[in-house]
Amino acid sequence: MMVLVPLLLALWLGAPNGGCALPPSCLQPPAKWCSSLDSAVQCGVLKQCLESDFRRTRQTDDPVQVGLYYESLCPGCRLFLTRMLFPTYLLLNEIMSVTLVPYGNAQEKPDGQKYTYECQHGKDECLGNMIETCMMNMTEMAFPIIFCMESSADVISSAESCLKIYDPDLSMDKVMSCVNGDIGMQLMHQNALKTKALNPPHQYVPWITINGEHSDDQQEKAMTSLFSLVCSTYKGKKPAACGGAEKIHYKSYCHNE
Ligand SMILES: *[C@@H]1O[C@H](CO)[C@@H](O)[C@H](O)[C@H]1NC(C)=O
Repeated sequence: MMVLVPLLLALWLGAPNGGCALPPSCLQPPAKWCSSLDSAVQCGVLKQCLESDFRRTRQTDDPVQVGLYYESLCPGCRLFLTRMLFPTYLLLNEIMSVTLVPYGNAQEKPDGQKYTYECQHGKDECLGNMIETCMMNMTEMAFPIIFCMESSADVISSAESCLKIYDPDLSMDKVMSCVNGDIGMQLMHQNALKTKALNPPHQYVPWITINGEHSDDQQEKAMTSLFSLVCSTYKGKKPAACGGAEKIHYKSYCHNE
């Protein structure tokens, strides 16, 4: 799992230049090391480049807002999150924002001053939803951590190692004190409210909203190619990844002489 993101990126972005002898990019000043995947890999800073990508402020004021209402153990949710949403976000994060709401078909019951939850796939799913919710509240690296968890064989038991990879400064103990405490419960209650406020109400998960709205058509498009949907929905200047004006950046051929 740990190698999945770099691997994916290497496959997508590394391949076009793979066979050409490019000058070693790390001879350039360090500030340029993240300018391409090749140089990030050559200079051994891929992880740092990925992190800075997640931390950097968004470049557009009007990103396409993708909402995902899901459950931590629902197979279709895991597939969509790991194979569609996260990879799309890696390529299009300049023009899209992602809101994850782990709750889905859970049931909330008031219990005195508190709430208790029942989840479609059992107690572990409630725990997974809660861990992910707390992480979103505690670290900017929540999305890659959640991606890491959801693509692991065991969503729950991978949480700690996924956290260590992407945010080694945050301890799992701290996350668990949110999970087992009032903050976690408040945050989960917010998820419940957001999910119940969906209009139209969700009929299944994963349930996708685009700019806050859901339709069968958008859902179908998102499930088929979220990448195309985000590119076509975005009203501003298309980024290079969408095949915008700067597409020449990706065009480099090695000719057979
Ligand atoms: C974390 O949750 C608390 C309590 O609901 C909230 O006040 C705070 O704004 C949240 N922080 C982030 C970064 O989401």
